[in-house]
Amino acid sequence: MNVVQNVAHRGFSAKAPENTLAAFEWAIKAKADGIELDVHLTLDGEVVVIHDETLERTTNGKGWIKDLTLTELKQVSSGKWFADEFQAERIPVLSEVLELISGSDLWLNIELKNHIVMYPGLEEAVIREVERFGMENRVVLSSFNHYSLVHIQRYRPKLSLGALYDGHLYQPWLYAKALGVSAIHPFYTAATEEVVTHCHQHGILVRPYTVDQIEEMKRLMEIKVDAIITNVPDQLNQLLDRAVM
Ligand code: G3P
Ligand code: MG
Repeated sequence: MNVVQNVAHRGFSAKAPENTLAAFEWAIKAKADGIELDVHLTLDGEVVVIHDETLERTTNGKGWIKDLTLTELKQVSSGKWFADEFQAERIPVLSEVLELISGSDLWLNIELKNHIVMYPGLEEAVIREVERFGMENRVVLSSFNHYSLVHIQRYRPKLSLGALYDGHLYQPWLYAKALGVSAIHPFYTAATEEVVTHCHQHGILVRPYTVDQIEEMKRLMEIKVDAIITNVPDQLNQLLDRAVM
């Protein structure tokens, strides 16, 4: 039996605009095990769910998230760029997603996007919301900013953390131990059999991103990664031979 977890990247983002409530609802319908999303901090300190630091690519607005208030951000469409039927989608606040997920049995990978803009206080703001919903045991916090992960590890040692990275770290299991995180989230080409085997020997989970090719999903399942982060959770579920939509 393969127990790989099927994690919908930015929601079911092949089906609906990434990081919108529509994409998260589709991920639930598609029977993903988990959802990955990205968060930033607004000018007035609200945690919002969007991938880029700026609005241009995925909304009809302009500017930097850090320079805009939540009220201003809620005025733009985060779905129209994808298709007209999603015009009404708005940039979600993290609490909207936590509320949606709390009514399901999915878990949530919250990626803190604080490696380009630093967002002082983002860690505490995210954790405040997670704790408000009592979701501490159903979230994994990840970041490309590993100082941020160490900060969280010291602030809330029980939270589950994943170190995101691109490229090929040397002996990432030792690095993960040094950081105090329980998982690595490598770009998928860096998830080799050697890496997975050593990570597991050291009690470190491996959750590669972003895997949309069937052959690559099969390879990763064979070497027994713990989760696959994908834009096409329906296709991964077919491979896993699970009932899908
Ligand atoms: O968390 C996995 C993946 O989302 C990291 O890269 O740029 O898609 O957020 P990105
Ligand atoms: Mg991400």
